[in-house]
Amino acid sequence: MSGSLKYLVTGASGQLGALAIDALLDRVPASEVGALVRRAEAAAPLEAKGVTVRIASYDDSAALEAAFAGVERLLLISSSEVGQRATQHANVIAAAKAAGVGFVAYTSILRADSSPLTVLPGEHVATEQALAASGLHYALLRNGWYTENYTMGVPTALEHGGMMGAAGEGRISSAARADYAAAAAAVLTGDLPASGTIYELAGDSSYTLAEFAAALSELSGKEIGYTDMTPEAFDAALQGAGLPAPVAGMLADSEKGAAQGGLYSDDTTLSQLIGRPTTPWRETLKTAL
Ligand SMILES: NC(=O)c1ccc[n+]([C@@H]2O[C@H](COP(=O)([O-])OP(=O)(O)OC[C@H]3O[C@@H](n4cnc5c(N)ncnc54)[C@H](OP(=O)(O)O)[C@@H]3O)[C@@H](O)[C@H]2O)c1
Repeated sequence: MSGSLKYLVTGASGQLGALAIDALLDRVPASEVGALVRRAEAAAPLEAKGVTVRIASYDDSAALEAAFAGVERLLLISSSEVGQRATQHANVIAAAKAAGVGFVAYTSILRADSSPLTVLPGEHVATEQALAASGLHYALLRNGWYTENYTMGVPTALEHGGMMGAAGEGRISSAARADYAAAAAAVLTGDLPASGTIYELAGDSSYTLAEFAAALSELSGKEIGYTDMTPEAFDAALQGAGLPAPVAGMLADSEKGAAQGGLYSDDTTLSQLIGRPTTPWRETLKTAL
């Protein structure tokens, strides 16, 4: 794997990664765009878009360094393997440094260093610190919640006639994945920001889960209630529904943090970066329906 490549996106087989590739293709020629995947079978749909595919797992330092050869600007999309991410991201950062990558943008979490969430931010903070210590030129895309985190629950909500959660009156300033992808492409292709620049990214509008359920009722024509639970009861209910304990615990912790304002932001950096309002959450909900 060699040859120069202006842009490379990791996690390109994932949902945000695929959208980030599309957002880059809106701005630059496909010949400048690369996609990193860990599974060879994930290459075909990306190659069909005309981008160069390179293959490496976050667990394989040597393969990562080879995949980063000749790359100018890297979008490191955080791994989905919660618990292994600090090590995996450290591998990526070390490989990027060794390969001479000129700029790394990393998808972190909203207010990583002061978030009331206790499960998810730790690995992001560790990665942010590893980037700062690396000497690489970097920027932090501190992504807020995806609206899709809630719209993916719509079929279940419709089936049961209700939604449950533990976010209380906490407002959620989510945006669509495509909005965060567009922001990543804007930062990656723009004039490079000062190293260490932090972008706190969130949707322009916010909602409580009760408001979300009310909108779902209105749009679906079916009465959908919202039951607010304690984080402990929510955790137990998720495990009762078959979720593994670590996933249920992470979701309950995120809801608890949301109740404390951890998913709310009135920062408009995201819409400024993408040059348009963020996708209204009701629109994402309509699309899901
Ligand atoms: N802001 C939010 O609301 C929110 C919500 C969920 C997740 N996230 C974070 O944002 C990231 C992107 O979101 P998403 O919706 O695109 O997640 P996703 O669809 O699950 O995609 C995750 C990507 O990470 C890749 N990956 C996982 N482990 C890897 C490894 N060991 N080596 C190389 N690649 C690996 C996956 O590859 P495979 O296709 O091979 O599995 C996939 O491409 C997530 O991974 C997570 O860190 C944020």
